[in-house]
Amino acid sequence: MAEAQAPLTGVGGLGSTARRDFWWAEIIPVIILLGGFGLYATWRAFEGKFFEWGPYLSPFYSPLIDPHHHWWPWSPAILILGGPLGFRATCYYYRKAYYRAFFLDPPACAVGEPRHSYRGETRFPFILQNAHRYFLYLSVLFLVFLWRDAIRAFFFDGKLGAGVGTVVMLVNVVLLTTYTLSCHSLRHLAGGKLDCFSCATFGKPRYTAWRWITTLNERHMLLAWASLIFVGLTDFYVRLVASGAIRDVRLF
Ligand code: FES
Repeated sequence: MAEAQAPLTGVGGLGSTARRDFWWAEIIPVIILLGGFGLYATWRAFEGKFFEWGPYLSPFYSPLIDPHHHWWPWSPAILILGGPLGFRATCYYYRKAYYRAFFLDPPACAVGEPRHSYRGETRFPFILQNAHRYFLYLSVLFLVFLWRDAIRAFFFDGKLGAGVGTVVMLVNVVLLTTYTLSCHSLRHLAGGKLDCFSCATFGKPRYTAWRWITTLNERHMLLAWASLIFVGLTDFYVRLVASGAIRDVRLF
């Protein structure tokens, strides 16, 4: 005779579950890291100073627009932060992470949530999450500027060189590039939506691109965190050097 199974989902409201593991431990690092990054990035974006030193430019301020306040009286970062912020906020992985950690909706798989109806992302404001693919296009444009900044970081007063900041900026842009290339929307665009590569226009190169993107896509969560943490560290390094708190070490 078949045994009766305990229901996995909590029907008794928020936090009710038949799970016996520490399901709540998964959301704590998200609250600390994402919350901490959000506070730090907001403070830095509004600070409006210590964003540039020699050939180094903070990624929070790139591309740098009107730094001398000819027509924009506030921090130049405010002009551009909508692009990277929109890209991260609408990212499929981050959506899962912050829906769980900050909205508890649900807090984890098979754990009760605060409400009993589900509308998905079909109504305002969450329907705006569908703009992710457009933020992807925008973030590719941002990458062009960040690569330009990383290359510029190799030139000190017109001469080739490198400092610790150069390495930091280079690692940062590589991580941001791999994070962007691992995007689910990009994978869909390259070939995820196709049933038959050999029947499609440019099927072979699209299949190759789709395979490369899939390899990165399998590590999307890791790249999302690594790039988020490192973009914060890069800004922090530039701030330390620009404010005179530390001196940049020249490698050659
Ligand atoms: S899904 Fe995460 S960046 Fe596109």
